[in-house]
Amino acid sequence: MQGTASVRVVDHPLVQHKLTLLRDKARSTKGFRQILNEIGMLLAYEVTRDLPLETVTIETPIQAMEAPQIAGKKLVLAPILRAGVGFLDGMLSLVPSARVAHVGLYRDPDTLQAVEYYFKAPSDLADRTVLVLDPMLATANSAVAAIDLLKQRGARDLRFVCLLAAPEGIARLQSVHPEVPVWTAAIDSHLNDHGYIVPGLGDAGDRMYGTR
Ligand code: PRP
Ligand code: URA
Repeated sequence: MQGTASVRVVDHPLVQHKLTLLRDKARSTKGFRQILNEIGMLLAYEVTRDLPLETVTIETPIQAMEAPQIAGKKLVLAPILRAGVGFLDGMLSLVPSARVAHVGLYRDPDTLQAVEYYFKAPSDLADRTVLVLDPMLATANSAVAAIDLLKQRGARDLRFVCLLAAPEGIARLQSVHPEVPVWTAAIDSHLNDHGYIVPGLGDAGDRMYGTR
């Protein structure tokens, strides 16, 4: 593994505005879900910005031409259940041919360790770029576990996409998987004693599904 991959903060005004709407504890379940979906679309635009292109020959109604298309196999979107699913529809609206890998993990509230309960992914992960999706990067136990699982199934080209990151989570993820670049809309102050991001937005999965 070479060096430490980058952390990119997506400072687009629409993303920042929508993140503020999500942080507001008065946001309804319906509003939270809808805005997360919208941010997923905007993050998909940013995280795919440097995908390699190849040239193909096509025929326009006027003449033949050489034109760019995205090289290689379709992307894999890998949401970490449950909250990662909040990004999925928005991202799929921009990359509708993407494959989807579901990674079922929950964070034990006492130990903060990630517990696996489901995994289903395309068999040819080694040939595809995999975007791992989770709004929250707190201790990074979930992100590390998800990337471990995807690597065990062959994934080699991974990117991690979140909404909010804690400095502790970024440091941990980069220490375990230094080649995986991170996209986030914000890096918050710290984790509290319960492993929640401060100031954060609370429990993303509960706010998305109204389960608190
Ligand atoms: C939340 C969140 C991340 C994880 C982040 O999931 O969606 O997956 O916590 O915390 P970490 O970086 O400390 O691992 P949670 O376990 O609450 O499950 P849920 O999405 O089903 O609510
Ligand atoms: N998971 C969440 O949903 N929120 C946090 O602040 C930390 C972990």
